[in-house]
Amino acid sequence: MMLEKCQGCLLFFLLLTFLDTTFGAFVGINIGTDVTDLPSAPDIVSILKEHQITHVRLYDADPHMLKALSNSGIDVTVGVTNEEILGIGVSPSTAAAWISKNVAAYLPSTNITYIAVGSEVLTAIPNAGRVLISAMNYLHKALVASNLNFRVKVSAPQSLDLIPKWFPPSTAAFNSSSNSTIYQLLQFLKNTNSSYMLNAYPYYGFTEGNGIFPLEYALFRSLPSVKQIVDPNTLFHYNSMFDSMVDATYYSIEALNFSGIPVIVTETGWPSSGGAKEPDATAENARTFNDNLIRRVLNGSGPPSQPDMPINTYIYELFNEDSRPGPVSEKSWGVFFTNGTAVYPLSLGTSGRITGNSTGEFCVAKQDADTDKLQDGLNWACGQGQANCSPIQEGQPCYTPNTVVNHASYAYNDYYQRMHALGGTCDFQGTAMLTANDPSYGSCIFTGSSNSSSVLLPPSALAPANPQAGSFAVTSVSRPQLLLLLWAICLTLVLL
Ligand SMILES: *[C@@H]1O[C@H](CO)[C@@H](O)[C@H](O)[C@H]1NC(C)=O
Ligand SMILES: *[C@@H]1O[C@H](CO)[C@@H](O)[C@H](O)[C@H]1NC(C)=O
Ligand SMILES: *[C@@H]1O[C@H](CO)[C@@H](O)[C@H](O)[C@H]1NC(C)=O
Ligand SMILES: *[C@@H]1O[C@H](CO)[C@@H](O)[C@H](O)[C@H]1NC(C)=O
Ligand SMILES: *[C@@H]1O[C@H](CO)[C@@H](O)[C@H](O)[C@H]1NC(C)=O
Ligand SMILES: *[C@@H]1O[C@H](CO)[C@@H](O)[C@H](O)[C@H]1NC(C)=O
Ligand SMILES: *[C@@H]1O[C@H](CO)[C@@H](O)[C@H](O)[C@H]1NC(C)=O
Ligand SMILES: *[C@@H]1O[C@H](CO)[C@@H](O)[C@H](O)[C@H]1NC(C)=O
Ligand SMILES: *[C@@H]1O[C@H](CO)[C@@H](O)[C@H](O)[C@H]1NC(C)=O
Repeated sequence: MMLEKCQGCLLFFLLLTFLDTTFGAFVGINIGTDVTDLPSAPDIVSILKEHQITHVRLYDADPHMLKALSNSGIDVTVGVTNEEILGIGVSPSTAAAWISKNVAAYLPSTNITYIAVGSEVLTAIPNAGRVLISAMNYLHKALVASNLNFRVKVSAPQSLDLIPKWFPPSTAAFNSSSNSTIYQLLQFLKNTNSSYMLNAYPYYGFTEGNGIFPLEYALFRSLPSVKQIVDPNTLFHYNSMFDSMVDATYYSIEALNFSGIPVIVTETGWPSSGGAKEPDATAENARTFNDNLIRRVLNGSGPPSQPDMPINTYIYELFNEDSRPGPVSEKSWGVFFTNGTAVYPLSLGTSGRITGNSTGEFCVAKQDADTDKLQDGLNWACGQGQANCSPIQEGQPCYTPNTVVNHASYAYNDYYQRMHALGGTCDFQGTAMLTANDPSYGSCIFTGSSNSSSVLLPPSALAPANPQAGSFAVTSVSRPQLLLLLWAICLTLVLL
C-alpha cells in the first residue's frame, strides 16, 4: 500500500488507457528493441502497466520479456523472426522445439495468444512463400500436439504492399503473382480460426501518394463534403485512410473467395520527427494520428464493408528505435521515451468511459473544439483567469506541439486546478472537458499531476540497480532498497 502510494508520488505518467472496451476492441503496442538505452524487461513491463496497456507484440521470443510479462494480465503476441522461418519451415521437429522453448514454457502465466510468423515475408522475401506456409503449419501442428491450439493462434503479418492498388477498396486484390501462397495462407487462417495480420501505414499512403489524398484523411480528420472520399462502386464513404486500407484487405480476401477471417492491424502509427525531406513527420501529426486512431478503434466498429468486425490494432511502437538504420523518421515512431514519459501528449478524449467511474481531475481542451473559441478561452485563462502560462511560452517545456489546442489545455487546466475549489469551472464556452488521464508529457508537467517534485529524488539516488534507466530506475530498485529509501524520505519530511 505504502509502496504504491509513494510510487504514485515519485512517478508521473501520462495515463494512457489501452483497455479493451465493452465492444471487445483493443489497441495494443509493438515493442521494437533497436534502442540504445533499452530499459530492462521488468522496467518495460512497468511502463506498460503504468499506461494500462493490455496487448503487446514482440518481434521475437525474448526470454527476459516473456518472463517479465508473466502474471501481468497483458496479452502477448510472440514473433518468429524471418531468419528462424527457414529452419522451422523445413523441419517439424524444429517447429516443435520452438513451441516448447518459447511458448509452452511460459504458458499459462504469460498469456501468449498469438504467434506472428515473420515480418512482411511475402513482400520482403517473395520466394519464401512456400517455406512460410509450411512453417505456419508445423508450428500449428506442434501447438495441437501440446494441446495449446485453442489458446494460441498462428498468423503472419503482411505489408499492405501485397495489395498493389488499395483504392478504391472494392476493387483491391492481392498481387496476383502471390495468389497461390496467399490462397494457402487464407486457407490456413480459416481452418485454424486465426486472423489476417496487416501492417497498414497511412503515413506512407499519404507521403507516397503524391498529393492524391489530403493529410486530413490520413490523420482521421473530417473532410469538407466536397472532398469526401467515396468508393465509386459501393458508394461507401471512407472517413479515414486507415479504414480504406483495412477494407481493401477485406475485399482482397473476398476476391479469393474467403470470408469470416478477421483482419488485425499488427502495425500502424506515425513518426514524430523526420529529416528535411520528411515535413509530415511531426509530433503534432503523430499525436493527432494516434489519438484519433485510438478513438477510432475503441469505438468498436469495423470498416464500411464489415461494420461489425472491430479493428484490433497494435500501434507502432513503444519506444523510438534510435539504432535503426534509415531516415530520421525511421527512428521516431515511438510513443514513449525510455524513461516512461510520453513523447507527445496523447489522450483518449472520452477516457471517462475507459477508466471507469472517474469524475476526472484534469481540465483539457476538446480536440475538435472551434479554434477561435479556443483562442478566446486561452486568452481569457492567461489574462483574467490568471493561469500560469509561462510553460507554454516559446522555449518552455509545454510550448510544443505549438497548437492552440495544446496551449489551451495547459492554460485551462492550470486555471481549473487553482480555481476549482473557489468555484472555477471547466467549460470555456464548451471547449473544455474533464479527464482522469494526466495529460503531462515529456518534461511538460500539467498542474495537479501527481509528480510531487518535493519528493522526487535526483535519478542518481535511485539508480544503483540500473544506471542507464534514469529517473525510471525506481522500478528496478529492489523492494528492501525502496523501503529503506521511503523510510529516509519520510524521516526527512518529518524533520523538515
Ligand atoms: C489471455 O488472453 C485471452 C485473450 O484476450 C483472454 O480471453 C484470457 O482471459 C487471458 N487469460 C488470462 C489468464 O489473462
Ligand atoms: C507483385 O509481386 C512481384 C513479385 O513479388 C513483384 O515483382 C511485382 O512488382 C508485384 N507487382 C506489383 C504491381 O506490385
Ligand atoms: C489471382 O487471383 C485473381 C482473383 O481471383 C485472379 O483474377 C487472377 O487471375 C489470379 N492470378 C493468377 C496468376 O492466378
Ligand atoms: C474454429 O471455430 C469453430 C466454430 O467456432 C469450431 O467448431 C472449431 O473447433 C474451431 N477450430 C479450431 C481449430 O479452433
Ligand atoms: C470464386 O467463386 C466464384 C463463384 O463461385 C467463382 O466464379 C470464382 O471463380 C471463384 N474465384 C476464385 C479465385 O476461386
Ligand atoms: C465509429 O467510427 C466509425 C468510423 O469512423 C464511424 O462511422 C461510426 O459512426 C463511429 N461509431 C460511433 C458509435 O461513434
Ligand atoms: C460510480 O459512481 C457512482 C455515483 O457517483 C457510485 O454510486 C458508484 O459506487 C461508483 N462505482 C464505482 C465502481 O466506483
Ligand atoms: C524523459 O526523457 C525525455 C527525453 O530524453 C526528456 O525530455 C524528459 O525530460 C524525461 N523525463 C523525465 C521525467 O526524466
Ligand atoms: C510537478 O513538477 C513540476 C516541475 O518539477 C512542479 O513545478 C510542479 O509543482 C509539480 N507538481 C506537483 C503537483 O507537485
